[in-house]
This record gives sequence, C-alpha cells and structure tokens, in this order.
Amino acid sequence: MNEPKQAPAPHPGLERAPRASLVQLRSFEAVVRLGGVGRAARALHLAQPTVSSQLKELASALGLVLFVSQGRGLVPTALGERLASAVRAMGDAWQSFEEDAAALQGLRRGRLRIAAVTTTEYFLPDLLGPFAREYPGIEIELAVENRDAVVARLERGDDELAAMMLPPTHLPLARWPFLENPLVVIAPGGHALARRRRLNLADLIAEPLLAREAGSGTRAAAEQAFAARGIHWPPRMALGSNEAIKHAVRAGLGLAVLSRHTLAKDPASEGLAVLPVAGFPLRRQWHLVWRRDRALSLPARTLLDDLRARLRVKARPQG
Ligand code: PGA
Repeated sequence: MNEPKQAPAPHPGLERAPRASLVQLRSFEAVVRLGGVGRAARALHLAQPTVSSQLKELASALGLVLFVSQGRGLVPTALGERLASAVRAMGDAWQSFEEDAAALQGLRRGRLRIAAVTTTEYFLPDLLGPFAREYPGIEIELAVENRDAVVARLERGDDELAAMMLPPTHLPLARWPFLENPLVVIAPGGHALARRRRLNLADLIAEPLLAREAGSGTRAAAEQAFAARGIHWPPRMALGSNEAIKHAVRAGLGLAVLSRHTLAKDPASEGLAVLPVAGFPLRRQWHLVWRRDRALSLPARTLLDDLRARLRVKARPQG
C-alpha cells in the first residue's frame, strides 16, 4: 500500500527567521562591523533614527539583548556576535546563489571560438556535440586549418581554445593532452609492401612519398621522425588535405604518413593498407591548448570541464 505522500517539512530556520526582517539584519550586521549606529547609517544611506529603531525592533522580535552600551558606542553581546556571523553566512549563501545564477545566464548566450588542426575534423565535431546540445545559445565557431595557421591564430588571440598535436613553445600556453594521435604509413591496398610482415623505413624510400603541405603538423611530425632515424625521404608531391592524400595513395601515386584517425576502422574498405613499419605508429597526442595570459570565458571553461569529465569516463578501464 502506498504511504500517503507527506508534504516536505518547512525549513526550521526559515520558519523562525521571519521574526527578523532582512533589512533589520542588514543594519544590525553593519552596526557590529562598523562599531556604531552613526557609521552604519552612513554606510547604508539611512537616517540614524531608522537604524536605531531597526535595532530595537530586531532585539524585541528575537527577545534578545544584542548590544551593550560602552562609552558612546555599542558593543555586541556574545549572542550579538553570533547573530552577526549567522547573517554573514546568509549573505555568503546568497552570493553563491547569485554567482550560480550569473553563470547560468553566461551560458545561455555567447560565443566560443575554437581552432583545430585539419586532422581533428574527423572526431572534434563529435566531441563538441554534447556541449553544443546542452548549451544551444552558445554559438561555436570552429576554424579548421593546418598547424601553422592554428599557431598564427593563437599568436593573434583569435580563439580561446585550439586542438593540435604540436603546440608551439614560443607562446604562454596551457595544454591538456586529450587524445592519442597515432601516425601510420599507408599504401594502396594491393601494394607489394602491404603483403610484407615487417618493414623498416629504409625499405620504403624507393617509393614516392606523398606529404601534406608545408605548415602541416602531420608533415612536421613525420619529417622529425625520419630525421631522428637518419632517413632522407623527401616528398615527391605535397597535397593540401588528408583526403587528397588518401585519394592519391589509393590511386597508386605513392605512400604517406597520416593520422590513423583519418582512416576508416578497416582501411581495406577504403582501398588502403597500413604498413607494418618498425617504429610506427608514431605515438603522438593531440592537446587542447589555451593562452595562459588571457582569462578563459565561462563557455570555454565549461567545455573544458565537460571534455575532461567525458574523456576521463571513457578512459576508465571497463569491467
Ligand atoms: P595538420 O594537423 O597536419 O592538419 O596540421 C597536425 C596535428 O594533428 O596537429
């Protein structure tokens, strides 16, 4: 049988507090803090007799002695001190309510500018989805450019957040590595090298290399890796997008180093193969970065918190 639903009990403190009005309490607190009725009245822009009668009404409403006279001034009794701190605690609670309300207003309308390197276009819109749905009044501007263009945007301060693999070191940036970015060597599906079980970089250099345009972080990371292994493998052709590279590799124009994220789960379905090259995938990471010398807006902070919470949950081992 269902219990009859009981009305929630009134808050006991609120039940009794209305004996004192907020205006009286505010004046009372000012008198305690400033040490006199005259000073409190001036601070509150009230007439002195008004404050005096508020104190009297308050004391009689509560049935307490709140002050004793000392010389020409008033000194709070122990209970008066206690009441003053209760009033300040009420003020703190009110202030935190107002801050929460302002924060919610701040997320109701606004704009969030984000820059992202081209490779992140394969997953960044998905990552932004939950935030975008939760805060429909925040207009998100996502600029998708290559690494050097994103660095230039960060230098100018065009965006609040940027997603990239190789954050520049000449800017005061905070960074949060949020996702792995494995870089792999790809070949056309039917290529002879795709049938080999193990390859070294040196086995590849007779093949033409297709690279992203100068300014691409993917290209820079690949070049750094070649140099670190003493391999000279200059690009035969530069192409301006990951998709263009995939098409060109599929068409048999050469091999390339790309983020694994640019490929389908099964690269064979796209007519491509990931080559088993020693030292690959290059284990790199994407970072979200922002300038330390600028304050992040509320939408930007909220997005970071949202991503941190969601990616942490995802990264937690299952089972
Ligand atoms: P990009 O991306 O090659 O499009 O510049 C590099 C990166 O992942 O940071």
